[in-house]
This record gives sequence, C-alpha cells and structure tokens, in this order.
Amino acid sequence: MTENQSEPRIAICFVCLGNICRSPTAAGVMVRDVKRAGLEDRILVESAGTAAYHVGELADPRTRRTAAAREVELTSRARQVTTRDFTRFDLLVAMDASNVENLLAIAPATGRDKVVLFRSFDPTAPPGAAVPDPYYGGDRGFEEVFEICERASAGLLEHVRKKFLA
Ligand code: 4NP
Repeated sequence: MTENQSEPRIAICFVCLGNICRSPTAAGVMVRDVKRAGLEDRILVESAGTAAYHVGELADPRTRRTAAAREVELTSRARQVTTRDFTRFDLLVAMDASNVENLLAIAPATGRDKVVLFRSFDPTAPPGAAVPDPYYGGDRGFEEVFEICERASAGLLEHVRKKFLA
C-alpha cells in the first residue's frame, strides 16, 4: 500500500533441512499471525531447506494434514536456500543447530548476524533448543512441531515488532 511505502519492512526466511516439515509449518503459522496482527504489508515470510532432496515438492502430507486440522493451509513448494537469500532476507530463522551450521557455511561475511534459532523466541525452551525433526517419527512429532511453532512464532513476532518495525 502506498501509505506504507516509507514504513520499515522485514523479510524472514524459515530454514530446516528438507523444507517439507518444520520450516513450511513455521512459515504457515507466522503468516497466520502476521495477518492477524494486520502486518502483512510489512512482514514477508518464506521458507527454504539446506538440502535439495525434496525441491519442488509440496510439504509432507503429514505436515499439511496437521496444519490443515488447525486451519493453516500449506501450499509452499520446497526449495534450497542459497547465498542470495542473505541479500533478500533480514532474518534466516533456523530450526536446529545443524541448520545454523549449514547456513553459516554459505553466509557472506555481512550476513552471519541474520542467522537465528527459531526456539530462541519460544519462552518455554532452554537456550539452544531445536524444533525436533519429525520426518522419521509418528504423527505426534508433527503435532509437537506445530505447537512449538505457535509459541516461537508469537515470540518472534514480538521481537520483530520491537527490533525492526518500531
Ligand atoms: P524438515 O524434515 O527438515 O523439517 O523438512 C525433513 C524432511 C526430509 C528429510 C529429513 C528431514 N529427509 O531426509 O528427506
């Protein structure tokens, strides 16, 4: 919108390994929260994976089923993160320590500070906590991922409001 043209904006990319379980869930929950807050003109949300295994695929059927049951429709296609994403995005939000390591391995020197752990915004999580990879487990793992994303998304939105949009 024209009236928002001079207001600060932020672009956030959630990152996991395959981009079919955790980061699409995080992005879907965050988009929902951003819309509820009326900030969709100011906060851009995407996701990507550090690996290329599933490029072009929709999110895992278990991921989509879990989200849809909670009124979050996931339509993203998997893609692999690239160095260029450090130019496009202000924050690269990793699901676990290995995602952080893989992101730092391709980060330009000026982009390292953009990499953060998603659960550092989950008030119930100890320092360094991961969003556990649900891929090889049962349905409960996908539900747990969704619940974690709800808490961490709320915390991240508060952080973004204060640090980037104030
Ligand atoms: P994600 O989960 O990183 O949360 O998307 C995984 C998806 C696929 C694989 C591993 C984790 N995989 O090995 O194919």
